[in-house]
Amino acid sequence: MPDDRRLPTLPSLAGGGFPRTRLRRNRADAFTRRLVAENRLSVDDLVWPVFVVEGENQRQPIASMPGVERMSIDLLVPAVAEAQALGIPYVALFPVTPAEKKDPEGTESGNPDNLMCRTIRALKSQVPDMGLLCDVALDPYTSHGHDGIVRDGRILNDETVEVLVRQSLVQAEAGCDVVAPSDMMDGRIGAIRDALDAHGHQTVRICAYAAKYASAFYGPFREAVQSGGFLKGDKKTYQMDPANSDEALREVALDIQEGADMVMVKPGLPYLDIVRRVKDAFAMPTLAYHVSGEYAMLRAASANGWLDYDKALLETLLGFKRAGCDAVLTYGAVDAARLLKKG
Ligand code: PBG
Repeated sequence: MPDDRRLPTLPSLAGGGFPRTRLRRNRADAFTRRLVAENRLSVDDLVWPVFVVEGENQRQPIASMPGVERMSIDLLVPAVAEAQALGIPYVALFPVTPAEKKDPEGTESGNPDNLMCRTIRALKSQVPDMGLLCDVALDPYTSHGHDGIVRDGRILNDETVEVLVRQSLVQAEAGCDVVAPSDMMDGRIGAIRDALDAHGHQTVRICAYAAKYASAFYGPFREAVQSGGFLKGDKKTYQMDPANSDEALREVALDIQEGADMVMVKPGLPYLDIVRRVKDAFAMPTLAYHVSGEYAMLRAASANGWLDYDKALLETLLGFKRAGCDAVLTYGAVDAARLLKKG
């Protein structure tokens, strides 16, 4: 005897019955779909990464990232003000260091008057309510393009951390809201936290690029900051192996223990399983980076007429939310904000 009270019941359609449970009922119209939607993308979830160059009135397109430009500070300020007017809460800053200022130790990273610090001061004075998340790593400043100090072909960990600490301090002095170490040296979060606190920057937050993988998807970014041409070899001795996922949890656990306020997974789409594990395991503010190569793929396919950029972008970003992200860094942030506003 079939028990009618037991759900779900699946009567035989062949016998002339009807499926009692029809999941399509809730999909039948837009107002119901809105009502039952489990996840939502909001402008509040977006961080817009931007590239800054020296000079005035500079606006340089990046071939592998259509729609993205390097801007000088004077043009960046109004662009950021516009992003803020759209409701975007944070920008992530990436400076392009002129080749003559690069050296093997990335010394320019600790110069309180470097391009990054001047950008922070300009934005904080002219668009004070835009959050500033500042990348901490040596690759935009080193003549070899690595994120650390190199000796005899090896990336030195502890010596690099000392330079990263100085870099974080000058960014905090300049007024940034969040420092975001993306270098993957061991122990840097704790060292940076201690130094920030000792210098009166207790409120400056740390967003740790905790699970950052040695990825092929950073290619266009290296063109954007002009570090790629310099890079010899790869970053596999410090960035994570794409084969690993338990190790990501250990990285995140350590960074939290050392004082991270937010954690990041990077790249994004190929690593959404990591986002889900991290969010479930730690319940931390969790960000992911929809990186340059992912953005380039979307742009390239839509330029060929193979994808609808607007739809594919929003679907991608919603996927990040569904995987457990609280926020996403994306070069499509301004596009997404406009689309969300249009509704
Ligand atoms: C620097 C850094 C990189 C990215 C962000 N910070 C490049 C790298 O690690 O080689 C990549 C971001 C992107 O591809 O959009 N440490």
